[in-house]
Parts: sequence; structure tokens; C-alpha cells
Amino acid sequence: MALRTPLKAAPAATDIAAATAAGRDVALVPSHLAIIMDGNGRWASHRGLPRLAGHRAGVEAVRRTLRASMESGIAWLTLYAFSSENWRRPAAEVTDLTGLLRHFLRNEVAELDSHGVRLRVIGDRSRFDRDIQVELAAAERRTAGNDRLNLVVALSYGGRAEIVAAARAAAEAARAGTLDPAALDEDAFSALLSTAGIPDPDLIIRTSGEQRLSNFLLWQSAYAELLFLDVLWPDFGATHFAEALAEYNRRERRFGARPA
Ligand code: IPE
Ligand code: IPE
Ligand code: MG
Repeated sequence: MALRTPLKAAPAATDIAAATAAGRDVALVPSHLAIIMDGNGRWASHRGLPRLAGHRAGVEAVRRTLRASMESGIAWLTLYAFSSENWRRPAAEVTDLTGLLRHFLRNEVAELDSHGVRLRVIGDRSRFDRDIQVELAAAERRTAGNDRLNLVVALSYGGRAEIVAAARAAAEAARAGTLDPAALDEDAFSALLSTAGIPDPDLIIRTSGEQRLSNFLLWQSAYAELLFLDVLWPDFGATHFAEALAEYNRRERRFGARPA
């Protein structure tokens, strides 16, 4: 598909085939963009700074990305902020990261709310300090009525743990007699994941040059377009964002089907 600009709010990504068939000149914005925000540590070490400086600069990139997402009309934005494996980092770095999260929740949620952002968290929030859990729940409640942009933040998130939890819930429901195993299809299983009700990501971007998912949205990424960028997360800005959407427009999504 040729690149078409300007990018603006567009039909759902699944309308691509219809739009193409109709020959319409329409730029398609992914309905759900997910980002693996990687490279904060390298950004800092290239500058001779502590890793915390990189994580702080990463928060600025989050702000830029939120702005760009709202301007482009993206409906869902998922940000991978902390993986279930990131707890294995040195305690000082974990403390720095949870400190930044605490600061973000205390100081930025009001602004998110004023812009019509709805915040949801996926991941094992029980591993965070109690005050953070309380702030997360408050932020979700406060923004629950918003619908301009759905922001999903993956915190202490791991795709495998999520799938195992869903499988366990299904097994328990079957044992309790409330679920017929024969009725457990893909839709029913999806409804047991932490992303129940959230559409699958159309585009997953990973910054920093690494080309892996690192346990991110393993089930949900089945047909996502993957884009690996050489930019470090703190340097990610509006131009990278626009280029990523342009690249998405050049992809041809087939979902296994073949045009007749
Ligand atoms: C991403 O940057 C932030 C988190 C994983 C929390 P990194 O901290 O992984 O930065 P690199 O990959 O070491 O450069
Ligand atoms: C993935 O990055 C997790 C986040 C960006 C939150 P990592 O830096 O933790 O991943 P690996 O260790 O390079 O696979
Ligand atoms: Mg990393």
C-alpha cells in the first residue's frame, strides 16, 4: 500500500481490505498501538548518566507519545512499562522505577483525566507497594468515564503468567461446573485474560534495536504488525511516531487469508 498523508482518525484497522478494495485514499491509523519502551539504560550510559536519568527521560517520551496518539486518533495505546521479569533487576533500580511510577500517578493523572484519557493497568499489581496499588485503583476509577484515548499500562506484566492465570481460571470454572470445557473457544479464553474487552494490538513497536517481545502480549500479538526501531526510547518523538504509522500503512495485513 502506498503511503498516504495526512494521517488522521480513520476506520478500524480491520477496514483496510475494504478501503483498499474500494480504492479509497485513506490513511489508516492502528486502532490499537502497543509499545515496548526499551533503551532507557543505554540512553543514560551513552551520556555517562545514571540509569535513573534514562528512565526519567523515558517518561518525557511517554508524554510525547500520548500527545501524538491523541492527535492521530488512536483509540488504544498500550505501554509496556515494567515486566514481570524486571523485578530481577538490582533493588536500587527497581526502587527508582517504582518511585517514578508513584510520581507519575500523583502528578500526571489529573492531566490525563482532563484530556479525556482512560487509564487501565494490566499485570500483577499486587507486587507493588500498597500506596501504589491504591493510586492505580484511584486513577482507573477517576478516568473510567473517559473515552478519548484508552491508555493501557502494562506493569509487572508477563504474557505467560497472564495465560497461565487464564488457564487456571478456566480449569477452576470447569471443576466448579460453571464452564463446559467444550465451550472454551478463543473468544471465551480471551475473556479470561487481563486484556478482556481490549482489542488485539494492530501494531507493536519496540524501540532500542532489540528484536523480541520479552513476554509482552503473547496471546494478543498473534496477528500484530511488528516494528523494531533503532531509536532508544528516551529519543522517541513525534517524527518516529509518524514514521511508524506510515510504515504501518505500507503493511499488508492478510490474517492468513488470500484474496480470491
Ligand atoms: C526500558 O529501558 C525500561 C524498562 C525495562 C523498565 P531499559 O531499562 O530496559 O534500558 P536498556 O535496555 O537497559 O537500555
Ligand atoms: C522489556 O524490556 C520490558 C519493558 C520495556 C518494560 P527489557 O529491557 O526488560 O527486556 P530484555 O531483558 O532486553 O528482553
Ligand atoms: Mg531493556
